[in-house]
Amino acid sequence: MGLLCGRDLVFGFLLFCVLSSVSVGLAAPCAFPAIYNFGDSNSDTGGISAAFVPISAPYGEHFFHKPAGRDSDGRLTVDFIAERLKLPYLSAYLNSIGANYRHGANFATGGSTIRRQNETIFQYGISPFALDMQIVQFDQFKARTADLYNQVKGTPEADKLPRPEEFSKALYTFDIGQNDLSVGFRLGPDQLKAALPDIVNQLAAAVKHLYEQGGRSFWIHNTGPFGCLPVNLFYVSNPPPQGYLDELGCVKAQNEMSIEFNRQLKDRVTKLREELKEAAVVYVDVHAAKNGLIANAKRLGFADPLKVCCGYHVKYDHIWCGNKGQVNGSEIYGGSCKDPSVYASWDGVHYTEAASKWVADQTQNGSLTDPPTPITQACHRL
Ligand SMILES: *[C@@H]1O[C@H](CO)[C@@H](O)[C@H](O)[C@H]1NC(C)=O
Ligand SMILES: *[C@@H]1O[C@H](CO)[C@@H](O)[C@H](O)[C@H]1NC(C)=O
Ligand SMILES: *[C@@H]1O[C@H](CO)[C@@H](O)[C@H](O)[C@H]1NC(C)=O
Repeated sequence: MGLLCGRDLVFGFLLFCVLSSVSVGLAAPCAFPAIYNFGDSNSDTGGISAAFVPISAPYGEHFFHKPAGRDSDGRLTVDFIAERLKLPYLSAYLNSIGANYRHGANFATGGSTIRRQNETIFQYGISPFALDMQIVQFDQFKARTADLYNQVKGTPEADKLPRPEEFSKALYTFDIGQNDLSVGFRLGPDQLKAALPDIVNQLAAAVKHLYEQGGRSFWIHNTGPFGCLPVNLFYVSNPPPQGYLDELGCVKAQNEMSIEFNRQLKDRVTKLREELKEAAVVYVDVHAAKNGLIANAKRLGFADPLKVCCGYHVKYDHIWCGNKGQVNGSEIYGGSCKDPSVYASWDGVHYTEAASKWVADQTQNGSLTDPPTPITQACHRL
């Protein structure tokens, strides 16, 4: 359609172009029956808690009033996606109790990377469920659904299973890559930079695989400004080395790496759109939203965006959210701030619900996506 909008076209074509733009703007909502999500802690709704040790209080307390398997005080962006699509919050695939998969499943786990890592969850917090493993789990989920659904059709058990024919109509969402950066920084920036094309390709391979399995609508978040995560500022000397921080007070080299990752991801997504002829593949600039929040925090009613709501981090003392530790010889609890709704960062690594809601509001209406598509219309190939 972009071609039809060329200036050198005669009036009739231009009119057609305008009309077809309007018709895209008014295209029927997609009525997605399900969401299948792949990612890391930014969108984990209970996976890593089910597989290993549950995330403890005060996580989850401000919205769910108890820990809810999420690395936040409340809802995540993926929860706001579910709300927008009028679907229930996603159950984690790994959750064996209380789960309902009628409208999708969540394969994301905290600490997941796109590429498989050698690191372990116990030493480094890196999940064994890298993206390729999440895709294997999806394949198994889909195959077993097909098998089981016909056996239990018409019984109450079927109400907790997806309809086999709805896999092709579902929205497939991704929010992953941040941990490939954090692992990469430990190895060194040159090695990480050299690895970016492979990392991005592996994400593309996952999308292609889901396409071959019948998926047609893809919503792919890019990665946020890594150097603005407060954890990356906890151990910086005071004053910081010359040129270490950027104009927002974030780690410059890390932010530049996120931008380079996103540039390559966007290119790769553009190619995917050509390769997958029947797919609608949307690139979602979560980075712009998070960066906008950090840059304009004050105007938007947020406190210092580089400060954390939960945990005790003063000089050399670091007591993480929900933990206890000794400071000056007395025990301190790394508890929550009074009002998480004015903080951007929950625990130094993860965003608050308020920040996630803001990011969701900025990205779901299509103003930060390529092509510009509201999430409710993300099944239409533009
Ligand atoms: C994992 O370890 C092997 C052997 O030491 C090494 O060749 C490989 O590059 C490592 N992979 C990653 C992702 O670090
Ligand atoms: C610990 O001692 C330092 C230095 O005297 C002081 O600045 C800090 O507030 C104390 N922290 C707590 C939690 O008492
Ligand atoms: C999308 O929502 C944001 C936040 O409410 C708003 O600033 C922006 O103008 C909206 N864009 C469109 C295309 O509706």
